Amino acid sequence: MKGVILHGGHGTRLRPLTHTGPKQLIPVANKPISQYVLEDLRDSGIKDIAIILGDIMPEKVKNHYGDGSKFGARITYIQQEKPGGIAQAVGLTEDFVKDSPFIVYLGDNLLKGGISKCVQEFKQKNYDAMILLCEVEEPQQFGVAEFDKKGNIVRLIEKPKKPPSNYALTGIYFLKPVVFEMIRKLKPSWRGELEITEALQMLMDAGYKVGHKIVEGWWKDTGTIEDIIEANTLMLDGLEPRIEGTVEDKGSIQGRVSVGKNAYIKKGALVRGPAIIGANTRIEKDVYIGPYTSIGNNVQIKKGEIENSIVMDNCTIEIDTKITDSMIGADSEIITNNKGPKGHKLIVGENSKIVF
Ligand code: TTP
Repeated sequence: MKGVILHGGHGTRLRPLTHTGPKQLIPVANKPISQYVLEDLRDSGIKDIAIILGDIMPEKVKNHYGDGSKFGARITYIQQEKPGGIAQAVGLTEDFVKDSPFIVYLGDNLLKGGISKCVQEFKQKNYDAMILLCEVEEPQQFGVAEFDKKGNIVRLIEKPKKPPSNYALTGIYFLKPVVFEMIRKLKPSWRGELEITEALQMLMDAGYKVGHKIVEGWWKDTGTIEDIIEANTLMLDGLEPRIEGTVEDKGSIQGRVSVGKNAYIKKGALVRGPAIIGANTRIEKDVYIGPYTSIGNNVQIKKGEIENSIVMDNCTIEIDTKITDSMIGADSEIITNNKGPKGHKLIVGENSKIVF
């Protein structure tokens, strides 16, 4: 089996964070989202992995993953010039895939239980394609599966007004090279993209064996800011507490907290887990870090309260108020000079300075 991680796309819903890098590198619990994807593939025994790069600063992806050896994988990079759709991106992998079965994993999808059981099932059942489905509350927003009386998938419908089921397609597809024949026949959809759901539908219509499996545990597509903050919550729920830095007073830590190497938590600060504090980060006296907060590496929190938020690397925060449900891009500075309203929800792009 080979793996393909999609690392392109427009990322419009995640602006301003996607002005300075691909969305799949945004950290959740201090790790880029696509690194969870790569580790899931690797832990399922898939080491030969292609990353499809998009047009938003692809060099950042190469800098992070290199040749893959640091992550126990062999990475091949393939450039997608413009975001022409998931199926277009998959179509670029034909030379890489050759005659191997392969998994396409969208680089912004997170799956709690991982894919290893699905890999076994795909191999055993000898499907031509297998789709991973997840039961969702609002299927109107997703690609949705329609089943026949025997429970086999007969149709895939993108964002249906009247969904035939509550089962949404996740962004994880188990495929065989026959899919390339279908992709070659695709025409751009109304949104100008080559749609993978259409290629899968063509496989079904041509009589190929398309199976499905229902996700156990949670699945999260991190397309919006709210999704990423929720993904951060879900990941921190599974956090292993670990103290590698210095906590001056043990009473400063409550619940499950991970403190990275050389991090320093001053006496008088309070970090209430689940929360993660990155390496070389400093939390000063009287600062409050509330549950479901990820603070990156080399961050200085000099004053203030932060809860249910993501603060990326190299930020400085010195505020008189509280920040909640927020995302602060790397290398930013947030400073307040007055008490003002009690709380703020901020979405701040990389390298910004906000004084208010
Ligand atoms: P989407 O989130 O559906 O699309 P997008 O990235 O264009 O985002 P937005 O709607 O906010 O503008 O894409 C799903 C995944 O597929 C995501 O990981 C990006 C990836 N992708 C590609 O790699 N190439 C593409 O051409 C497209 C459209 C998406």
